[in-house]
Amino acid sequence: MDTTITPKMLEELLNVGIALSSTRDLRELLTLILREARRFTSADAGTLYLVKGGVLRAEVAQCQTFVERLGQEQADSLFSSFSLPVNMKSIAGAAAFTREVVNIPDVQNVDVSCLFQYSPDFDRKNNYSTHSNLAVPMLDREQNVIGVLQLINAKYKNRVVPFDARKTRLAQALASQAGVAIRNTLLTASLREAHLETLQRLGVAAEWRDKETANHIIRVAKFSALIAEALGWSEEMADMVEYASPMHDVGKLGIPDSILHKPGKLDPDERTIMEKHTVIGANILSNAKNEVMQWSRMVALGHHEKWDGSGYPQGISGSDIPPICQIVALADVYDALSCKRVYKPAFPHEKVMAIIHEENGRHFAPQMVKAFAGVIDRIVAVRDEYADKEEDFAKFRDYANIGIE
Ligand SMILES: [Fe+2]
Ligand SMILES: [Fe+2]
Repeated sequence: MDTTITPKMLEELLNVGIALSSTRDLRELLTLILREARRFTSADAGTLYLVKGGVLRAEVAQCQTFVERLGQEQADSLFSSFSLPVNMKSIAGAAAFTREVVNIPDVQNVDVSCLFQYSPDFDRKNNYSTHSNLAVPMLDREQNVIGVLQLINAKYKNRVVPFDARKTRLAQALASQAGVAIRNTLLTASLREAHLETLQRLGVAAEWRDKETANHIIRVAKFSALIAEALGWSEEMADMVEYASPMHDVGKLGIPDSILHKPGKLDPDERTIMEKHTVIGANILSNAKNEVMQWSRMVALGHHEKWDGSGYPQGISGSDIPPICQIVALADVYDALSCKRVYKPAFPHEKVMAIIHEENGRHFAPQMVKAFAGVIDRIVAVRDEYADKEEDFAKFRDYANIGIE
């Protein structure tokens, strides 16, 4: 039997490799890997597993027969994620355990000594007939098993046939590219998460001085991203808004305690100093090479500008205020009104909305108020999910009692 991979196949493999390495979203990537692996091997169905917490977790499944029978949507709804242990009791588990390809020509007809137990439950329930089965471990660059690519029922002229040596080689070639692409995507996601968390914690450092909680930072970031989304901004831009907003008050690090913590009203001179937190923040973040930091600087400088020009520090108005600042201004005030602070209770929802609508066209940009109102249910859900608890405020009441968390 000819098992060579032809130059045409190689070229196709290469193209898939390029597509894999340029896909940033994990789910999209896994779906693409499985689809391409099925195409290369003419497999009717397949499941892609990732190793998570020491077990194999089914992340994506596809089945052409179900799609033809039920339509794409219903076929997709049949899949619910499940886990398998990494051991010799299942075909996918064995591929992960041995780090070798497991190729079973017909699961209905295996040697009695075989350890795999084919369970006919799924087939019976869904009126499907599983025969040939190929499980390929996916390894990363360090040769750790990060998942398994399982392919079911290779087809040849409408008949189910075993996965031959060429198909096995193709699946292996694809799995090795897939392993590296998955690892890179997971790593990128983890770096992004670390990056966002660093920004949040820096923001918290500044807000801590003003007795704001860590949740305030998270809420404002998420409200802002929701508004950006409602405006029809791209996902990347909505992410950017979420990343850039935590630093809005970073300049408070430069405001003296005597002013920041003064009980009661500030006199005009003190107010002028307090308002400098915008400019101090912009200076802290100036000359940044990183794009997130450049947006953060813009937010720090402009989040107290008002639509009618009565804000600070520049007193700019209308569309002269960068849209991202218009968004964060609204999100920050909404949070201050709708959430409890050490010094004030949360206002009722109706009152908050009345104030925001009253300030529409004065403090806030009409376009932003409209977008905000359109996603108010999701905003309220975020507000509730990240609500402060009593202990979040306790640390501000008595600085002497601050313990290690
Ligand atoms: Fe501020
Ligand atoms: Fe704030």
